[in-house]
Amino acid sequence: MDLKGRIKNAERIAVLTGAGISAESGIPTFRGADGLWKQFRAEELATPQAFQRDPKLVWEWYDWRRQKCAQAVPNPGHLALAELERIAPHFTLITQNVDGLHALAGSKHILELHGNIWRMRCVACEAMRESREPLGGELPHCDCGALMRPDIVWFGEALPQQVLSEAFSCARSAEVFLSVGTSAWVMPACQLPVVAKQSGAYVVEVNLEKTPISEMVDEAHHRKAGEILPSLLGVEI
Ligand code: OAD
Repeated sequence: MDLKGRIKNAERIAVLTGAGISAESGIPTFRGADGLWKQFRAEELATPQAFQRDPKLVWEWYDWRRQKCAQAVPNPGHLALAELERIAPHFTLITQNVDGLHALAGSKHILELHGNIWRMRCVACEAMRESREPLGGELPHCDCGALMRPDIVWFGEALPQQVLSEAFSCARSAEVFLSVGTSAWVMPACQLPVVAKQSGAYVVEVNLEKTPISEMVDEAHHRKAGEILPSLLGVEI
């Protein structure tokens, strides 16, 4: 049976997305020739130690990324996944992205594994604040007086436990699992398609390039997500 037929028959569908799905919206990916981790050193920007050492530098970098995200709009890849959710009985969108574009596209059941770039969290009392305003050089502070940090999972930090366990449970119960625009390198997210496959799901990858999971999946499509997803999934956007 082809993917469209499987989607039609499936009770449970889960999707994992990574930076590649937002590339066509103009948001840089992390790895690859123009990737963010080629231009910047992760350990100087995306670790708790970096923030302790130089919060201004870290916030400047996130402010720059927030501006990129603010200019971006969802592309046909995001829209196709939002449409798939509307026709599927049980649907979960697991994303490593922090840009919020899936929600803008209309997706509802979203599990954000790595946080959200629009949220900040107090380093002392953990109070949350959501703001899309540029920081303009000011370091954001909580009402309690302490510094706010981006509510993003940094290297060396644990993922939000409940979100992660729900993601694994969705991967285990999915009949169809899609892995879209992720290099499938970063743990533990990269285990989700593997767990889905071991649990009997039909696993499909969409990525410009081959990845460590390409050999294991049932179908791999090496094309741009925005170009292929609407027709691959058989949805009207
Ligand atoms: P990566 O930058 O590692 O990988 C992006 C993937 O998308 C690559 O495999 C590209 O081939 C693919 N790609 C690029 N453009 C595409 C397109 N138009 N259509 C389909 N595929 C395309 O991004 P992630 O896998 O998301 O973590 O990286 C995972 C995590 O590593 C990120 O969430 C981030 C980073 O460190 C944190 O910041 C916590």
